[in-house]
Amino acid sequence: MGTYAKPLRTIGTALLFTVAGIASAGTITGSPHDFSTQGWSGGQICVPCHTPHRANTTVADAPLWNHALTAATFTLYGSPTLNATIGQPSGGSKLCFSCHDGTVAINSFGGTTGTTFIGTGDKVGPDLRSEHPIGFTYDAALVTADGSLKATTTAVTIGAGGQTRTGTIASNLLFGGKMECASCHDVHNTFTNGGKLLKVANAGSALCITCHSK
Ligand code: HEC
Ligand code: HEC
Ligand code: HEC
Ligand code: HEC
Repeated sequence: MGTYAKPLRTIGTALLFTVAGIASAGTITGSPHDFSTQGWSGGQICVPCHTPHRANTTVADAPLWNHALTAATFTLYGSPTLNATIGQPSGGSKLCFSCHDGTVAINSFGGTTGTTFIGTGDKVGPDLRSEHPIGFTYDAALVTADGSLKATTTAVTIGAGGQTRTGTIASNLLFGGKMECASCHDVHNTFTNGGKLLKVANAGSALCITCHSK
């Protein structure tokens, strides 16, 4: 059993930004989710997460999923001021936990069982009490109940440089009306603003005030 080490990406990212400094438009290539330099990926980028055939359909609406899924029971976020109704993770967030809850090896995919686990710095869950809540519906009723959330029709542009996408909170940040990990992160690093795969750069807490009127 090992833990995922990241020195290659540090070099890769530095080169990416020096050589292609003009284009801040992102791609998954060279990003933290590009495992093509790891021996176990066979030099491919998409295969740890997707397959064109015989995909895992356990998670409803999963995009041709190829990674082993977590079987963990999650401890959910709670607080007296929370209005949202949170359930066990599903959808895209359940897919993130394939690697990020640390219970399944990152190289367990396509039917093989790996031995390399995510590093502690990138581990999220299965105890979610200390994490921004995910896995709940963000709609007009929640906006009213909370009192300081922005309407889901509020305009939001994600990305930076040559690659942006205009839309609303609903179209760019929610998935089937739900708040998920990918409300803040772009797993493919396509519509991001530099570090941490964030869809909206968080200087001045801009990401937070995209949804919260604080
Ligand atoms: C680390 C895991 C991971 C890797 C690697 C990855 N994806 Fe994804 N992909 C996801 C997840 C998770 C979703 C579900 C949507 C979401 O949560 O953002 C997704 C969704 C998609 C979708 C449907 C939604 C959309 O964004 O259009 C397509 C198409 C897709 N991926 C293509 C690819 C291709 C092509 C590659 C390789 C170049 C790739 N992905 C690499 C995790 C990954
Ligand atoms: C409300 C927005 C938001 C949501 C939802 C969110 N994150 Fe994050 N995440 C962030 C921000 C902002 C950072 C950068 C923190 C920093 O740089 O200090 C981050 C950082 C990370 C990191 C880098 C390590 C770290 O802790 O800094 C990982 C890994 C991560 N998030 C995974 C996830 C996963 C998995 C989910 C879903 C369970 C998730 N995130 C949901 C906003 C979010
Ligand atoms: C195939 C396994 C796998 C899946 C699936 C996966 N990740 Fe990751 N992710 C990793 C690993 C490994 C790292 C650490 C890579 C590194 O730091 O070099 C990472 C790093 C991250 C980071 C930190 C990026 C940074 O700049 O430090 C964020 C944020 C993140 N993942 C979010 C997500 C989200 C959101 C999803 C689901 C939509 C997801 N990941 C799905 C394996 C995965
Ligand atoms: C995509 C929209 C979105 C983004 C971006 C976002 N949040 Fe949230 N956040 C929500 C929603 C919706 C809730 C649930 C509110 C409720 O239940 O009343 C929430 C809940 C919270 C809570 C818990 C409130 C409670 O009563 O327990 C805190 C604290 C919080 N967010 C802080 C942040 C911070 C800090 C950031 C930036 C890193 C951030 N949020 C980014 C939508 C968002």
